[in-house]
Amino acid sequence: MPAPPDWYAAGLPHIWLPYAQMKTALPPLPVVRTHGTRIMLANGSELVDGIASWWTACHGYNHPHIRQAVQSQLEAMPHVMFGGLVHEQPLRLAQRLAVLLPGDLERVFFTDSGSVAVEVALKMATQYWLNRGQRRRRRFVCFEGGYHGDTLGTMAVSDPDVGMHDMFKGLLPEHLCVPLPRDAQGEEAFARVLERHADEIAGIVVEPLVQGAGGMLFHEADVLRRLCAAADRFDLLLIFDEIFTGFGRTGTLFACERAGIVPDIVTLSKALTGGTLPLAATVARRRVFDAFWSDDPMHALMHGPTYMANALACAAANASLDLFAREPRVAQAARLEALMAQGLAPCRDLPGVRDVRARGAIGVVELDVAPNLNALRRRFVEAGVFVRPFGRAVYLAPALTIGEDDLARLTGAVVDVLRERR
Ligand SMILES: Cc1ncc(COP(=O)(O)O)c(C=O)c1O
Repeated sequence: MPAPPDWYAAGLPHIWLPYAQMKTALPPLPVVRTHGTRIMLANGSELVDGIASWWTACHGYNHPHIRQAVQSQLEAMPHVMFGGLVHEQPLRLAQRLAVLLPGDLERVFFTDSGSVAVEVALKMATQYWLNRGQRRRRRFVCFEGGYHGDTLGTMAVSDPDVGMHDMFKGLLPEHLCVPLPRDAQGEEAFARVLERHADEIAGIVVEPLVQGAGGMLFHEADVLRRLCAAADRFDLLLIFDEIFTGFGRTGTLFACERAGIVPDIVTLSKALTGGTLPLAATVARRRVFDAFWSDDPMHALMHGPTYMANALACAAANASLDLFAREPRVAQAARLEALMAQGLAPCRDLPGVRDVRARGAIGVVELDVAPNLNALRRRFVEAGVFVRPFGRAVYLAPALTIGEDDLARLTGAVVDVLRERR
């Protein structure tokens, strides 16, 4: 096995890795190139990628159309501030998002990460009520199993375990975290919470159809319709966090389409740039924007990340939308559901497996108890795939363009590695 490159040994002692106990984490793999659905390592080996870089690289890596768009934008202007200045790429992108999203979701506020997009949504919703003279509405209803980011505001609207509420008690605002109303009984319990707290609630925040980082948990479109009905009944803003589910991941371009709902605010990121550059967007309906439209300077949305609407990132996003327009990307995602369900089906018979499920381009094997993650992750690399289980979930969320052979290698590796466990 060749020695790792110089930069690896020299730089690693200075790096703090994400979600890792640095003392016990497996050494990270040095990557030198990516292409399509493959990750090339410094030692010359190649892995089939099962999670598309945290669900971003929906067209596969290094797509020539996105590369070309970023390169030509780089020649003209990599970045210019968005305060007092505007430029072509974000304006084109905002207009296109407004057309693609349902209803009058038409005002786009750009940021640079998913967490910040959700922060902006929370701030927008709170100030929506303030601007309308309602000072008490500062809390949010959020859901068990939910995840909305790692910043303090977004941790507070995530599941208490996922958001580590105990550890950060006192620092996080306290919201109302409740079970999703999955049936009539759940709907009644949900309504009771809203009845008690309606005058202090600004809005409801949910990941539609799939709660991702909280465990790859699925729910049906009916649940979203119940939330929408409750939001109407109690006059609350409905926020859909489509950072994971947006851009085809669940088999429609946006998950809200499946429920026929137009939420008040939608957050987008991840696959927005096809996994090329960091970019996020918070998109508001007209009535939300209208609450900020005033002669009073205090009614303005006081937010503005330095790199918001970065020209390179917006060029990548526009190129990614070209690909969604000209290639059957959403149909590809929908087709992956059947292939993934079929490929992972043998896991159903393995001991320690609680559930096997697929939705769009997401396949999940849920275990009874959390496995030894390091051992599993190592075995996947030995099997020639990059799969990164977390908690009790071993899951696949590959590029929507993945070929049948590569997908079969991924599902086959999941079956084999879980079969040989114990
Ligand atoms: C639904 C959802 N919201 C928000 C985030 C946070 O995005 P970011 O990691 O870009 O801050 C994520 C990231 O996994 C997510 O899945």
